Amino acid sequence: MRWALAALALLAAGCDVLDPMWVQQKAKPYRPSPFYPDGIEMRAAPEGTLAREELHPADLATGLGADGKPLARDPMPLSRERLELGRKRFEVTCAACHGLLGDGDSPVARNMSLRPPPSLHLKVRNPDGYFYRVIAEGYGFMPSYASALTVEERWAVVDYLRALQLSQRARLDLVPPAERARLQRGGTP
Ligand code: HEC
Repeated sequence: MRWALAALALLAAGCDVLDPMWVQQKAKPYRPSPFYPDGIEMRAAPEGTLAREELHPADLATGLGADGKPLARDPMPLSRERLELGRKRFEVTCAACHGLLGDGDSPVARNMSLRPPPSLHLKVRNPDGYFYRVIAEGYGFMPSYASALTVEERWAVVDYLRALQLSQRARLDLVPPAERARLQRGGTP
């Protein structure tokens, strides 16, 4: 009996400590504060703090040129490593909805009746900056993926997206000769 009482007392004390979040002491923005010398709870960022985007030139971060139009091409130099980074990020961040090939064939698309994620091969003529901005800002029902992907990663995803688009509509003479023969033997790729 004594043990049970002691356990109960402990539990009760525990509840006291574990106040629900809404009654716990905390700073709320826009409230006055007796704690800080300036009397405001909301703190300013330390001097010199930069948003992630501000580390980059404006066009790279926004995807827009000086004329306010989406950039035609990714301003970062293309390399195999960047394409591979883009592939990794695309497969982790985008493929669940748009499909591994970007053609809109995915488990999510098959089960989403309202507005399934579209194929990304339809707007091949749109500039790179258009795709960058969809990733950074979101598009209709699609949320922004800016918090999941750095500026560099977003551009890498755009580059990989271009590779996917090309893979579905390349002319045969663009394929290296060795692969060309293989494609022709195998019929439609
Ligand atoms: C949770 C599912 C989901 C994920 C993940 C997702 N998308 Fe989307 N995406 C959508 C949907 C749904 C739409 C159509 C939205 C609408 O029309 O309202 C869309 C639209 C788009 C469009 C516009 C297509 C057009 O016709 O203009 C692009 C480009 C795009 N997504 C690229 C991406 C890329 C790149 C990623 C990864 C960084 C990504 N999406 C991740 C669901 C998703």
